[in-house]
Amino acid sequence: MDGVEFRKHGRDMVDYIVDYLDNIDSRRVTPNTEPGYLQNLIPSEPPNEPEEWDTIMDDVEKKIMIGMTHWQHPRFHAYFPAGNSYPSILGDMLGDAIGCVGFSWAAAPACTELETIVLDWLGKMINLPDDFLSCKKGSKGGGVIQSSASECVLDCLLAARTQAIRTLKVKYGDEFEEAALLSKLMAYCSKEAHSCVEKAAMIGFVKLRILEPDQNCSLRGHILRQAMEEDIQNGLHPFFVSTTLGTTGCCAFDNLQEIGPVCQEYGPWLHVDASYAGNAFICPENQYLMKGVEYAMSFNTNPNKWMLVNFDCSTMWVRDRFKLTQALVVDPLYLQHSYSETAIDYRHWGIPLSRRFRSLKLWFVIRSYGVSGLQDYIREHCRLAKVFEEYVLSDRRFEVCNTVKLGLVCFRLRGSDELNQKLLSTINASGRLHMVPASVNDKYVIRFCVCAQNATDDDIEYAWKTVGKMATDVIEKMQLMGEEREQETKVFDEEDLEKERQDMVQRLEAKNRKTLQFKRSFFVRMVSDPKIYNPKIVKLKQDMSLVDETPSSPTISQLEYNYYYE
Ligand SMILES: Cc1ncc(COP(=O)(O)O)c(C=O)c1O
Repeated sequence: MDGVEFRKHGRDMVDYIVDYLDNIDSRRVTPNTEPGYLQNLIPSEPPNEPEEWDTIMDDVEKKIMIGMTHWQHPRFHAYFPAGNSYPSILGDMLGDAIGCVGFSWAAAPACTELETIVLDWLGKMINLPDDFLSCKKGSKGGGVIQSSASECVLDCLLAARTQAIRTLKVKYGDEFEEAALLSKLMAYCSKEAHSCVEKAAMIGFVKLRILEPDQNCSLRGHILRQAMEEDIQNGLHPFFVSTTLGTTGCCAFDNLQEIGPVCQEYGPWLHVDASYAGNAFICPENQYLMKGVEYAMSFNTNPNKWMLVNFDCSTMWVRDRFKLTQALVVDPLYLQHSYSETAIDYRHWGIPLSRRFRSLKLWFVIRSYGVSGLQDYIREHCRLAKVFEEYVLSDRRFEVCNTVKLGLVCFRLRGSDELNQKLLSTINASGRLHMVPASVNDKYVIRFCVCAQNATDDDIEYAWKTVGKMATDVIEKMQLMGEEREQETKVFDEEDLEKERQDMVQRLEAKNRKTLQFKRSFFVRMVSDPKIYNPKIVKLKQDMSLVDETPSSPTISQLEYNYYYE
């Protein structure tokens, strides 16, 4: 494709994009397809000869779009918002065209410098403590864009791990192997934390203790303190605490004001994952939700969730960038440059070497909307969530299951989990709305998140009417089934027996899947909780704890290994 063709197809593509987004509500929000559908539509071999652009675009509509869940659809209320806006799309387009690989200042000076400046802008917008900003005189802090919140959590855990190993080396002497010291490290998070914390601990090969939050799904200081004291008694070293502001399940907030002082006392790195909710802190009235952030060593939020920026754009700030880079610096000659000492080289701030020019889209968005425009957008979503909450509260068949502080409402029919599962699966199967479930205080709840960029009162009303109508249908159907079951004196004929057999197979398969899930969660907890992982845990004496013979390495015991991998 040459420049002339690109101009033409580029313009056509812009038209296609605008038509897609303007008319998205004429589509089903979720596709009506089965796994493997695309294999039947796309040849198994790549084309040997070039194809016409129009033929390719034709396939987009006929083959790709029919298999899409439309995240920008006004009836999409699942997960959290997937940020999107025209300025952001254009920013990404330009970044792609520039096509630089910004691993060091020298490799792409503007790419590096814009990232630093825009992260300072955003840090100020959400009112992070000055220590996190690179522009403040004498500051050791600064911000960086990563691909995902999961990556931010992992990077911070690795930084904390490096600092902890250094501390232990000073305490116990250089002769101890790092692997032996590693086995003493303990990380903490709440049961409500995102699974990326478990993943980070698994990759980092450290133990993770998953703590019980209070009835509001908030991790409290005394619970953390108790766990740490127990672990210290057992010779372990608390080194990392991952807290969440705006949990995935029900948008709950860990109590940083209580947790912060505990971390200060026992020394672990305190990380704050505010992947969704952090964006709302650009509105001063929401900033009370991050009280205690002054204790944190690091903080992340995803503008690609709730600030009109397209994936990927996960912003992360650290109070001490040297502590981050100490964990991640490798510096071969071919990547060094004459400003290595004075300029920021973002390759030392994360895992990948290659980095896209992602700050462009963030810059475009902040400038195009202004801080006030972005605040209006957040406030409108919060208002609409309250409108939905009011609808739920007005119907006595339902209950609201979280404190609605931002754009997420968790609700359920008063009744069994099974009833609510049935309701949600009916709604999702209809293709008219899309929501996902969560478990809040051990109850199955349905999450309703305000996601669409231009969501309106009408969209919320439509969603509520759909939920209400389907609830009526499901309740009636369940009642009917109950009555039928009571009356039925079942006589099995051949067909019934075959059906029963098939049901049995399905039930067994489901049970198998559940067992696997259990094994997985057992594994995580086993790695997490030293008492499960090693019931004979020896209280290690302070002075000889690192040369013991106990099998307390972070690997699992043979018995448990067999159990998990059998
Ligand atoms: C609180 C929280 N942390 C982390 C994540 C993971 O985000 P990412 O997909 O950017 O890794 C999510 C995803 O929704 C989240 O809600």
